[in-house]
Parts: sequence; structure tokens; C-alpha cells
Amino acid sequence: MAAGSEPEPLELDDIQGILVRGYSSLTAACFLLLTIAGPAARPALARLVPKATGGGAEPPQRAVNLAFTAEGVRRLGLDGPGAGGFSQEFLTGMAEPNRSRLLGDVGENAPRHWLWGGPGTPPVHALALLYARDEALLTALEAEVRQDLLGADAFTETARLGTAELTDREPFGFRDGISQPLVEGLPKAARAGGDEVVKAGEFILGYPNEYGLLTDRPLLPAGYDATGLLPRAHDGSGADLGRNGSYLVLRQFRQDLDGFRQYLEDATRRPDGTTDPEAAGELAARMMGRWPSGAPLVRAPHRDDPALASDNDFGYFHTDPEGLGCPLGAHVRRAHPRDSLDPDPGTARSIAIGRRHRILRRGRAYGPDGGAHGPDGRAYGPAGAAASGTDDGSGLHFLCLNANISRQFEFIQHTWLNNPTFNGLYDGPDPIAGARQDHRSTFTAQARPVRTRYRDLPQFVYVRGGAYFFLPGLRALRYLCEGTRMEPGP
Ligand code: HEM
Repeated sequence: MAAGSEPEPLELDDIQGILVRGYSSLTAACFLLLTIAGPAARPALARLVPKATGGGAEPPQRAVNLAFTAEGVRRLGLDGPGAGGFSQEFLTGMAEPNRSRLLGDVGENAPRHWLWGGPGTPPVHALALLYARDEALLTALEAEVRQDLLGADAFTETARLGTAELTDREPFGFRDGISQPLVEGLPKAARAGGDEVVKAGEFILGYPNEYGLLTDRPLLPAGYDATGLLPRAHDGSGADLGRNGSYLVLRQFRQDLDGFRQYLEDATRRPDGTTDPEAAGELAARMMGRWPSGAPLVRAPHRDDPALASDNDFGYFHTDPEGLGCPLGAHVRRAHPRDSLDPDPGTARSIAIGRRHRILRRGRAYGPDGGAHGPDGRAYGPAGAAASGTDDGSGLHFLCLNANISRQFEFIQHTWLNNPTFNGLYDGPDPIAGARQDHRSTFTAQARPVRTRYRDLPQFVYVRGGAYFFLPGLRALRYLCEGTRMEPGP
């Protein structure tokens, strides 16, 4: 459906808060994975839904957001015409074999080995995202949510995904959360302007996207919403269950901190066999495309420069076309190629194409080393301050939001991160987050007179769980537990 060019005001009070902000002042968080146990699920949800946090004012103390898998939506009684409007990737789910192949979730990363979300673990129907200003408030919030939801015929708790206290680091020691698309219609986007501003419909269903269209979303025949809880569809044909909602991708990544450090150390040993911490730190930064402080290699090619820690105003094609600063296969260069996309690299058209493949990242680190490398960020830096800690149990609960899972999240993972031939390379997937063939791969750091090839790169990141969710608008949330034309739950 074509939509007008004038940006429509966003209905912030109906949009769940996580779409608007990452709750950075709410440093304690956990994610509850829930299974519907019986017909009391809808009344249980009705108790919690009034507490769900909208996107208006920033919540000072705590926040609750709720999302559902396809099976969860069905179990809440929404089947038939309503379920049909959901996207295919959402309906089949992340653990479906074709999606696993596409995402590279094979071998050790295959869903059958997952801690949750796979075929061998209890079904996940709902996700409660809980955030609080500190641990004590989080504990109280969790107790309240459990009180509302859990019960013999309501929900059971399948898993609790804890997170480390929020810092600006991910477990490998790099500053995270720097580069995000700015959602058109939010105040930040109006203030900043520029290439980072992306149409709201790329993230929020029911608004025009980068094609000037409304992304497919669940629309219900008017009779399915007899009490008029939902917004009307733009063309007046029925009720818009999707409007103000989004799709949420959650993936648990275990990060092998010891394996990463060991590889960096071994790959950069001096001829006499001693370790070279500075070279190890530089190699880690080349793989990431940013230094631990966040400074982009394209701007600071030789050493970290904390003065550039927040720098996000750069491209690659004109400044560093050969990858001599930021390697062509570095994580950030793949995940967001900026001005380097064909068919017209270096032009506004290239950047416009890139805007169709953006995601809002809202992940949180977990485990003893989750983001806990301290403010100097020198886990692999020149001083040789090694990452402390275990080889297990730390990682990232990667969470991102997008209106079209296949064109946004899956495209980035499959076509850019996992692709050994990305950017003119021929045998190197993303050194950090790309799926490996036979668990090994090559990373190339372009240089003059000769590039350096790092071979036998093992996997540093393992997929331990995952699922696709629908994050409804707040009215749609109410509809899911109170709607009048739905079959009762299981
Ligand atoms: C454990 C796995 C991962 C780690 C440790 C990691 C780490 C990082 C870091 C340190 C940054 C730079 C900071 C920033 O710009 O905010 C970054 C950027 C980014 N990452 Fe990841 N990442 C991981 C997985 C992924 C995955 C699976 C995706 C998508 C499928 C992804 C997409 C992105 C995007 C889009 C950016 C922003 C790039 C830019 O705009 O310049 N990351 N990541």
C-alpha cells in the first residue's frame, strides 16, 4: 500500500518503550521466557498489561515490555485471518531448518543444542523484558511479574536470562551501543538529521518504510475487534493489530573470551615466541572495526584515540576504499557498510539502499565478564591488560527490532556477516559474528605492501538460544488478552 510522504506523528503512548529507547538508566535487567500453561494465560496477562511501559516519557525506575512468539499468539487465541498477516519468518520461527541454514545455525550452533528456543527445550510463547534502576528494584519487579503471570493454568517460566549490570562494554571489551539508526519522528532524529535518520516504518509497523510503503503486518477483519480496541487500518478495511508494533529478534551468544584472547596472542607472537600485547590488541580492533574505546579504525587507523570514541559520522568508500584503515571484512564494516553498497558506492543512493537494512540494537551483556572490563576498555589494549575470567558463561543477549525480519536482521546475518565473499573478499566471514564453515575461517587485514592473512580463525561466538517475537503496540497487547472475537486459550 502506498503511503504519503509527510511523516506521520508517532503514537508514542501506544508504542512499547523498548522501540523508543534502550533504557540506559535502568542498568539492571532480565528477560523471562514463558510458556502458556492453560486458559488462565489471558487473564494473567491482563493483570500485567496495564504495567507495560510505553514510549512516551522515560521511565525513571523500571520498565516492562512484552512480546510473543507465533505459537504464543496462536495460543492466545489469534489464529486464522489474523495470524495470516504476520511475516513468514515470524510464523515459522528462528529454529526452523531453512532459517537455521540461512542464519548459519548449524553444527554446534544448531537449535538442537540450544539452551532455549530449540526443539529439545520447552516451547517459548512469551517474553517479558524487565528493566530497573538497580538490582533490588529488579528483584521486586520480577516478583510482581511472576505473581501476575505464573500459575498452573496460566504461564510457566521456561528460562530467566539474566544480564550483567549495564556498562558501555560488551564482553570482549569493546564499547558497544554507539551506532544506531535514528527513527524518523523521534526527537533525537529531528535534532540530528542526516543519513542516520531512517523511516519509522523500518522499525515500527503501520508507518511508511524506506520504500514509501507500509510493511506487511497483521490486519484483522473489523468483526474481530467488536469493541474497537485496535486502531483502524489505513484503508479502513479492518483493525490494525500490527500498528505500533515490531518484530523482536532475541539471540543468546556465548562469547569465548579465553579462545579469543588465545587466538589473538598466538597469531601475533614475536619470532622469539613471546607475546606482543599491542599487536594482539590491534588485531582485535581490526576484526571489530573499532578500537576498545569505540574510535573507528577508519578515522584512527594506527592506535586507539578515545577522543573519537563516539565518532559515528564517517563512510568507507571515499576514505578507505581498500580497507587499509578498517579492514574490508571487519564486523562494523559488514554490519553497516554505510556508503559502500553497490550499484553506486560512494553516493547518496548507496546510503539510501543501506537504510533498508538497519536494525535497532537493544542487547544486553550477561555473565561474570558481561561488559565488565572497566572504563579504560583495554582488555586487549597496549598495556596488555588481559581479559579476566572464564571461558564460559559470558556473552550477549543480542536483541534487535525491525519491521521486516528477512530484509533487515536476516539479511545482515546472512548476506553480510556470514558471507565469505563480502566486499570483494573470497574466504572470510565476519571474524566476530559470522558463521564459520567447518568452524574455521580466514581474516584478512589489508595493508601495504602486503596484506596479512589470519588463518584458522575458530569460532569466538556461539549461538545458545534464540527466537523471533512480535512486540505488539499497547492497544494490541490489550486486545491479545481481552479481545472479544477470539477463541479462548488452550
Ligand atoms: C557476540 C556477538 C557480537 C558482538 C560482540 C558485537 C559487537 C559489536 C560492537 C563492539 C560494535 C561497535 C559498537 C557500535 O557501533 O555500537 C558493533 C556494531 C554493530 N553490530 Fe555487532 N556484535 C555482535 C553481533 C552482531 C550481530 C549478530 C549483528 C547483526 C546480525 C550485529 C550488528 C551490528 C550492527 C548493525 C552494528 C553497527 C555498525 C555500524 O553502524 O557501524 N552485531 N557490534
